[in-house]
Amino acid sequence: MSPAVAQPRTAVVSGGSRGLGRKLVERLLTDGWRVATFSRDANEFIEKQRESHPDTFLWQSTDMLEPGATRTFVETVDAQFGRIDLLINNAGVLHQGLFLTMASAEVRELLTANLLAPVELTQACARSMTRAGEGVVVTVSSINAIRGYRGVAAYAAAKAGMEGLSRSLARELGPAGIRVCTVTPGFFDSEMTAGVTGQNRQRIQRRTPLGRLGTTEEVVEAVVFLASPAAAFITGQSLVIDGGISC
Ligand SMILES: NC(=O)c1ccc[n+]([C@@H]2O[C@H](COP(=O)([O-])OP(=O)(O)OC[C@H]3O[C@@H](n4cnc5c(N)ncnc54)[C@H](OP(=O)(O)O)[C@@H]3O)[C@@H](O)[C@H]2O)c1
Repeated sequence: MSPAVAQPRTAVVSGGSRGLGRKLVERLLTDGWRVATFSRDANEFIEKQRESHPDTFLWQSTDMLEPGATRTFVETVDAQFGRIDLLINNAGVLHQGLFLTMASAEVRELLTANLLAPVELTQACARSMTRAGEGVVVTVSSINAIRGYRGVAAYAAAKAGMEGLSRSLARELGPAGIRVCTVTPGFFDSEMTAGVTGQNRQRIQRRTPLGRLGTTEEVVEAVVFLASPAAAFITGQSLVIDGGISC
């Protein structure tokens, strides 16, 4: 009898079109995962993955600010791949602005994109994982969740909310075989941080004990570790990747 062939694992990565999400998609495809991702717009990277991985890559245009949009996306993933083994809550939005003058629509958008939509996505994916009796959820938080900074209050509230969700879910879903963790990065280069001035970059670097800025690859490594069997007894924890700036 031929040995049983291991079923490919399926990862859902929100916001996989660029920045950290893109690096996560590339790494997971290289490691043999089936990868489902969404963003509002496709780009050259997405089109290339669709061509080169027609059976193992799924992208769907989804605006997570639309009510129910992430649930619809998860239904598509379940229909196409049959199971979800890993969720990486990566998509996020940051507009900087002082809380006292920020328009309420903007506060609402930050809380929806960084908290409500990922909560709904997590619920839909966790229901799917419960059917399989195993799974891992890794949420990309931010050091704004654990330290105070001016101009990011609503974003920080949402990220702290996701860290709280993860700890409680670790307790609730552990008995169902599902681990739930967060990674908490400091500054790294991406479209989200393209507007940060050279002077501010230097300031962050100066305040970082390891004396430099982080890279997306370093965050990817932490996510891949938490998703792997090497982290099989780790749940409810947050791994800070910030060169020591928050210590
Ligand atoms: N960059 C940093 O220094 C830093 C530090 C700490 C934590 N983080 C966190 O790391 C994660 C990744 O950040 P990044 O810097 O890689 O961000 P990014 O380059 O701005 O990419 C964000 C991704 O999310 C998608 N997205 C944004 N709004 C969306 C919406 N309404 N519906 C669906 N998809 C949407 C974007 O695609 P579309 O625009 O096409 O929709 C894109 O794929 C985020 O959770 C962020 O908060 C970043």
